[in-house]
Amino acid sequence: MPADVNTLSHPLAGECLKLLRDKNTTPEIFRQQAAKLTHMLALEISKDLPTTPQTSETPLAQTTENVMASRIALVPILRAGIAMVDPFLYFIPAAEVMFLGMYRDEDTHEPVSYYNKLPEGNAPEIAYIIDPMLATGGSAILTIEAIQKWGVKDIKLAALIGAPEGVKAVHDQYPEIDIHLAALDERLNENAYIVPGLGDAGDRVFNS
Ligand code: PRP
Ligand code: URA
Repeated sequence: MPADVNTLSHPLAGECLKLLRDKNTTPEIFRQQAAKLTHMLALEISKDLPTTPQTSETPLAQTTENVMASRIALVPILRAGIAMVDPFLYFIPAAEVMFLGMYRDEDTHEPVSYYNKLPEGNAPEIAYIIDPMLATGGSAILTIEAIQKWGVKDIKLAALIGAPEGVKAVHDQYPEIDIHLAALDERLNENAYIVPGLGDAGDRVFNS
């Protein structure tokens, strides 16, 4: 039985998704909406983080709060994953950010890796892969392979929009990986773009 696929059910997510998808949305507004949805995803994906009690002194008394107890790596996939880095760091400022560079070959739609400086050993307990689009799943699968090789045991994936084909491809190979999406769309088209989707995420983030 594959791990969960979670989509955002928050009533405020729909307005953000509507603007994100709209072809007339400017890059500035696109980045804003991507950031808002990523904030929601960051809260969802981190719901089961282990915590440890820590005490502090208020002006009135000593008190205890449960705080995060694990090392976490954020793994954004270049380019478009950059748009999701700051919103994740807002909630998890101590996360270690490890970029992986990949692009899809235009003909085969297979991912081509062009940047990977993951260290050898000293892996954190948890890694969150962040990328706006989960289309065929090829980029996510190559990323999971690299992170597992690094030694991370607990890997989760956050994307703004996913296709059923990409979810299936990831879970066929890695059934244990939780996938958190803002929305799960209908299908891929003949160019392996997500429909209805939002177009090319990197181009829309970076106005290129
Ligand atoms: C996009 C997206 C993902 C990938 C998803 O990147 O940001 O990384 O496609 O597609 P897949 O699930 O079929 O692998 P792209 O290859 O367009 O590179 P870019 O971010 O540099 O534009
Ligand atoms: N990459 C994108 O940027 N958009 C898609 O729809 C599929 C892959």
